[in-house]
Amino acid sequence: MPDSFPQLCCSFAERPSKVGVSYHNAAYRALGLDYTYIAFSVQDAPSAVQALRTLGIRGCGVTMPHKQAVIPYLDHLDPAAAEMKAVNTIVNDDGLLTGYNFDWSAAKQALQEATSLENKEAVVVGAGGASRAVVYALVSSGARVRLYNRTLDKAVSLAEEFGLVSAYPLAELPQVGAYDIIVNTTSVGHHALGETVVPPELIHPDAVVFDVVAEPLETTLLDQAKAKGARCVAGHRMRLLQAAEQFRIYTGVEPPLDVMQAALLEASKPHLTTDDANR
Ligand code: ATR
Repeated sequence: MPDSFPQLCCSFAERPSKVGVSYHNAAYRALGLDYTYIAFSVQDAPSAVQALRTLGIRGCGVTMPHKQAVIPYLDHLDPAAAEMKAVNTIVNDDGLLTGYNFDWSAAKQALQEATSLENKEAVVVGAGGASRAVVYALVSSGARVRLYNRTLDKAVSLAEEFGLVSAYPLAELPQVGAYDIIVNTTSVGHHALGETVVPPELIHPDAVVFDVVAEPLETTLLDQAKAKGARCVAGHRMRLLQAAEQFRIYTGVEPPLDVMQAALLEASKPHLTTDDANR
């Protein structure tokens, strides 16, 4: 394939979002790269992975529920993806597909922009896919994790997989005691202002509060944390940092982070309804 041949990158999701399309394409355009990014609505992950090979698609972002489903169809896994048993990025090197997981490294980087992690007491709420990435980031950085989830069994099995983790039912969160870092990994607050799974009275001014919910850009949890004087880590920061790693590995070029951030913020703004626009 000639060097100048246009490259295609994409994402697989059940419900595709325009946000990723927007920041990847903005970055390609800013650097004059002959790349295009599109989002596919995918139900059948194995066939979609085969399509990457057939069509020579350079790279692919993978969202739930496909993060585990794609694994048997790849040629290689990087060590973190193998340990986490979840892939969020596939890279196609001349037909050889490698799965990576940048969710955890982006979570770690976003947290480390606010605090060091070693020997910190962390509280993580939720035990789904996002929780896996956050718990892996915290534990691999030397933090101790207390995991709270509505369905206790899921927290217990996640805690058994990683060391330094203990599991509790969500109902016990109000009795959490002292902590340094608190993270919401549940979907509570996603496109739902006013909803939070963390009682506001638990937030203290010395806390670092991380909400993995990326839309809205400022969730109710982060609003409450800011009001208490806590340091906030936003879900859209983690989203941007994992996208930057994807960009770097797809293109071999340093990502223009400011361009990607501007595109992300613009694309994540709530849509104006006709009524709003006429006001
Ligand atoms: P993701 O991949 O985005 O993490 P997920 O794997 O479906 O999504 O996990 C969603 C998490 O949000 C789970 O921890 C879920 O709790 P359960 O395991 O009990 O289902 C949590 N969650 C979703 N809605 C919730 C709610 N209303 N209250 C508390 N926890 C909720």
